Amino acid sequence: MSAFVHADETAVFPRELDRPYPFVERAEGVWLYGPGGERYLDAVGGGAMVSSLGAGVRELYEAARRQAARVSFLYNQQFTHEPQEALARRLVELAGGDFARVHFTTGGAEANETAVRLARAYHVERGDERRWRTVSQAQAYHGPTAVTLGLTGRRALTGAFSPYVVPQLYIPPATWRLDPTGADALAALDEILAAHGDEVAAFLCEPVSAAALPAYSPPDRFWEGLAERQKRHGFLVVFDEVVTGIGRTGSWFAFQDMPIVPDVVTTAKGLGAGYAPVGAVLCREHVYEAVASGSRVFDLGHTWDGAPLPTAVGLAVLDYLERHDLVERVRERGPVLHDELERALSGSSLVAEVRGRGFLLGVDYADPRDGRSFLDPALGVARKIDTEALARGLVVYSTQPTADGWAGDQTLLAPAFVSTDEELGEIVSRLAEAIAAVEQEVVRELRSASGAAVRG
Ligand SMILES: Cc1ncc(COP(=O)(O)O)c(C=O)c1O
Repeated sequence: MSAFVHADETAVFPRELDRPYPFVERAEGVWLYGPGGERYLDAVGGGAMVSSLGAGVRELYEAARRQAARVSFLYNQQFTHEPQEALARRLVELAGGDFARVHFTTGGAEANETAVRLARAYHVERGDERRWRTVSQAQAYHGPTAVTLGLTGRRALTGAFSPYVVPQLYIPPATWRLDPTGADALAALDEILAAHGDEVAAFLCEPVSAAALPAYSPPDRFWEGLAERQKRHGFLVVFDEVVTGIGRTGSWFAFQDMPIVPDVVTTAKGLGAGYAPVGAVLCREHVYEAVASGSRVFDLGHTWDGAPLPTAVGLAVLDYLERHDLVERVRERGPVLHDELERALSGSSLVAEVRGRGFLLGVDYADPRDGRSFLDPALGVARKIDTEALARGLVVYSTQPTADGWAGDQTLLAPAFVSTDEELGEIVSRLAEAIAAVEQEVVRELRSASGAAVRG
């Protein structure tokens, strides 16, 4: 097997036919190994912000093995069992307050779709049939299914599948470029509530964004304003913590550091940490009570939801995080990592902002000619960063949602919580080198295209 697999040499239907996929044979901690001795430092949890505890953790695969030997699968429409019961108890305890119930799923999109339906069910059960719409931040990612695609205002994501997608209502993100105080986002929300208030079932968003706007979160003023409107208008607030939940931002859930308590929270990736697919929808007492004192049925599920194997792994993940004080480590080390990254990139004319919340970090690029505008998508900066990083044995995740109009080229980092200081240092220095190489190329291209002076 060679180091990379191309679309014309595989029976797999790859996601991008023009992308060569690095072939990985095995992994240990935060290192991925290829067939010819290639060695990659994984700064983004197996590529998708999942492997928060690294690879090859004995306690986790042993938990899977033990549960598989005892009873691996049971359908939660017909059975329950200790791992599901115990994981639900643990999650509501960790969420705190009056979080009361957990509905398990297999992944993040399913959790978000379940949350949308739960918000709808909450209103219908209480006799308000009109409420069905969601309001969300335009620049986000909540999953690839028809309902979850409708939760972002990103036409570029929906593409040819728009006939299947029901568009919802959107507010702009309050980024440093567009709306640094959050006032415009709140004004947009007010406009929507004035026009559709009695139809709005939920406001759904990532409390701290992941791939769509890495490590971005609106200013507190926005969250306080949202909390006021949550009370005043009666819609539910749903937080998509598919990435941020289970320690990623330095608390068990990101909302715990914010001036608002959501009614429903979804989580997934870090709950299984790459050892099993498991997601969860947590809701507070009043949401559960609407169903409990109404139809008493919330029958939505997929075959593997809450099954013994994935929920046993989820429990083992929580045990491991607690035993090794890893959420605490992320909380303490995250700001230092942010500062190290910011310092390493401070001289780059390509870098406009470095953001960080715990072990979720983002680098936002801009046109070096004004330090502000989005880069021309034709320059392909996001793709070039990933390629240059990989050439230096580093896996990061860059995106270029420029066509949607809310953000340009960006890079996401989501290192494993168990990364050593030395490994974190390597992530910073290899990424800085990759960015410097792309910067040189971009500055050269811009100079030759315009003849204008370009800093760099
Ligand atoms: C914030 C967020 N929500 C939802 C999802 C969808 O999760 P899944 O791919 O497990 O369906 C993702 C996946 O990247 C995500 O980043």
